[in-house]
Amino acid sequence: MTGKARKGKQSTDPFLDFRSDTVTLPSTEMRAAMAEAAVGDDVYDDDPTVKALEEKLAKLAGMEAALFFSTGTQSNLAALLCYCGRGDEYIAGDEYHIFRDEAGGAAVLGGISPFPLPTNETGGITVGQVAGAVKPDDPHCPISKLLCLENTVSGRVQDQDLIKSLSKTAKSNGLSVHLDGARIFNAAVKTGLSLEELCEPVDSVSICLSKGLGAPVGSVLCGSKDLIRRAKRMRKILGGGMRQVGVLAACGLYALEHNISRLSDDHDNAVRLGEGLSEIPGVAVNLSAVETNMVFLNPGEGHHEALSEYLAENGILIGIQIPEIRLVTHLNVNREAIDYFIQKTKDYFASR
Ligand SMILES: Cc1ncc(COP(=O)(O)O)c(C=O)c1O
Repeated sequence: MTGKARKGKQSTDPFLDFRSDTVTLPSTEMRAAMAEAAVGDDVYDDDPTVKALEEKLAKLAGMEAALFFSTGTQSNLAALLCYCGRGDEYIAGDEYHIFRDEAGGAAVLGGISPFPLPTNETGGITVGQVAGAVKPDDPHCPISKLLCLENTVSGRVQDQDLIKSLSKTAKSNGLSVHLDGARIFNAAVKTGLSLEELCEPVDSVSICLSKGLGAPVGSVLCGSKDLIRRAKRMRKILGGGMRQVGVLAACGLYALEHNISRLSDDHDNAVRLGEGLSEIPGVAVNLSAVETNMVFLNPGEGHHEALSEYLAENGILIGIQIPEIRLVTHLNVNREAIDYFIQKTKDYFASR
């Protein structure tokens, strides 16, 4: 999902930015961790901080190995390229980032066909859909190789029993399973399940450090030793081999140590935001969909742009997706910011 930069506004402006959790800025302590990081050439396997981050996340996810990437898109794409060759197919929900928001990279660079399944209102897909999507051994069809899941999906935590059943169905049909866990720690904090429990049904997981965890850059792909060995080649092909990148991995390590449990504050703030906004006549918020750090606001026809402009004049940035504007809570918007947002939205509607 895109969060377009606003004309004339710089990221250093003191805006309260609700467009995404990717807008978080590294804290002073995180910057200090960067400055102190031991580094080496990671393409030569010489960067101790990258190694420490990869080992830590592999262990947390209960996987054999891990690999640091610049972005979630690159990590997902490297995984796709490992599992699928030209003429192969991956199956995914049609609202999943890997299908909808990664510029068709698997098709563009890998000759891999996507097979999107309609995603339901909880962000899930069903066992029946997956079973029905797997292609027979028929020269008319691409070869189904991979099921891609996502957790969380638009802030919604996926039911763990469903993940298990989907994975079982895929595997019994000879497919591997990759999880886009860009916000998997939001799911872990919400459910109380460990990262290892959440990842147990899948073969690989891509985890973003640059969303709610607050690091400026970085994603980590976790999987078997063999997958990660091949992913390293794919990362090189994609131009993603980086050198003294421990300065960035240090942010990830800092985030894992300091910024996981506080995600519950973001979740509480999202509920407060959703509840506050839903009191405004004419505004629609689906409160039951507020499970982690996202709130979807429908301000009513004709109000999207005007509300966005009004809030920007008052120091608040939001997207203008239609019909529902996605609002995301994160470590740079505290409770006071939430209350200010609600008040300014009330003021906007009162002035109409
Ligand atoms: C669910 C999900 N997966 C993957 C990504 C890709 O991450 P990146 O922006 O680091 O490429 C995003 C980015 O917003 C995302 O929301």
